[in-house]
Amino acid sequence: MSDGSGNGEPQLFTQPTITISGAGQVLRMPGGVPYLRHDRAGELRLEPGDVTIEGGRIAPFDTEPASEVRIDASGCAVIPGFVDCHTHLPFAGWRAEEYERKVTGVPYEEIARAGGGIASSARSLAGATDDAVLAQSGALAEEMLRLGTTTFEGKTGYGLSRDGEARAARLGRELGGLTRQPMRLTGLFAHAVPPGHTRESWMDEAEALARECDVDALDIFVESVAFGNDDLARMGAIARLTERPLRAHVEQLSTMRSVPVALEWDARSLDHLSRIHPDDIGPLASSECAAVLLPGAELMNDEPVAPARALAEAGAICVLATDFNPGTSPIASMPVIIGLAVRRYGWSLREALLAATLNAAYVLGWSGEVGSLEPGMRADVLVLDGPAEHLPYRFGHDPVAVVITGGEVAWVRPDQTWRLES
Ligand code: NIG
Ligand code: FE
Repeated sequence: MSDGSGNGEPQLFTQPTITISGAGQVLRMPGGVPYLRHDRAGELRLEPGDVTIEGGRIAPFDTEPASEVRIDASGCAVIPGFVDCHTHLPFAGWRAEEYERKVTGVPYEEIARAGGGIASSARSLAGATDDAVLAQSGALAEEMLRLGTTTFEGKTGYGLSRDGEARAARLGRELGGLTRQPMRLTGLFAHAVPPGHTRESWMDEAEALARECDVDALDIFVESVAFGNDDLARMGAIARLTERPLRAHVEQLSTMRSVPVALEWDARSLDHLSRIHPDDIGPLASSECAAVLLPGAELMNDEPVAPARALAEAGAICVLATDFNPGTSPIASMPVIIGLAVRRYGWSLREALLAATLNAAYVLGWSGEVGSLEPGMRADVLVLDGPAEHLPYRFGHDPVAVVITGGEVAWVRPDQTWRLES
């Protein structure tokens, strides 16, 4: 895992020993597992306690070192940093005028067919310099950090040509070198069918891109306005051949019955699922494929609410993410996503916390490193400004008092600086 320090050089200083003391709640979960199925979310515990950080890692529970930095966490909850495993960074510009058309009655598919949607963001990306893309995306990653996201994923997908997608992959890696959070990069090489291509001819290009580009996973948008289940199967074969996890945007705008196809190809995650067929819930829930739910896109794109209660009770590996993108979900905030999930999915706080931490890390293949406060994990820690129950309840409030990433204090909300003593 990259240390997120941005320049790849060894750090010239050692991380301070930090003690977070007197927390009203510390989130604990069963250790040594790569994920926890959602019917076990009740095993998450919120107990009073302290957390010690040494050498950038969570120290064993009974450690009482002479700390260089002390954080007074009285009245606070201490939880792992959020893992946002589905964003569309890097992107350029926004699509606010399209949002107004959408809310006043024009369907997303119609906007997409008229050259808006993904094609519009592709034009913005093509028209922006590398520096402009990295400046906008880097600032957004920093906004995410202050809202508690200490690990995230980004994708290509707004390149929409062979050169454009290769550039998006390069910019994605450059972004990961600039941000303070570790970043995974997914090649969403099959996002929309570029002009002048058929689905089939573009899949040949997507395969070439998958072979050439430095990305950690592969993704495809399966939808009436994008690619089909036959293309999904082909992307599954490409993923297997190039030894990368397969992810897919499925059952977002229409029911395509993509779930059985993706499970056959051992997908790591299926994302969206707001229109999943009821018969596909059981097989998905008993597989090792995560169900990545995106309540921000459901709200902002006026999609049905995913059957998240049923997925959780069936024991799926449920995950929450922002889907942060300029079209369907211009939302950077995991606290907002958690608030939406609890209200609209009928989820408990523990179900939402599990979905935003350990299980999200599993999607990125990093659950041995981040996503929990078990001893030895990378010290990505949030101190919230109140009890964890306030996270979904005070919807829209910024609950993040202190962010620690890789054992370093990365952000202290200005009204909370009194908590720090060094
Ligand atoms: O995850 N579903 C496809 N891709 C994005 C939307 C991309 C866009 O509209 O820019 C999503 O919702
Ligand atoms: Fe997406």
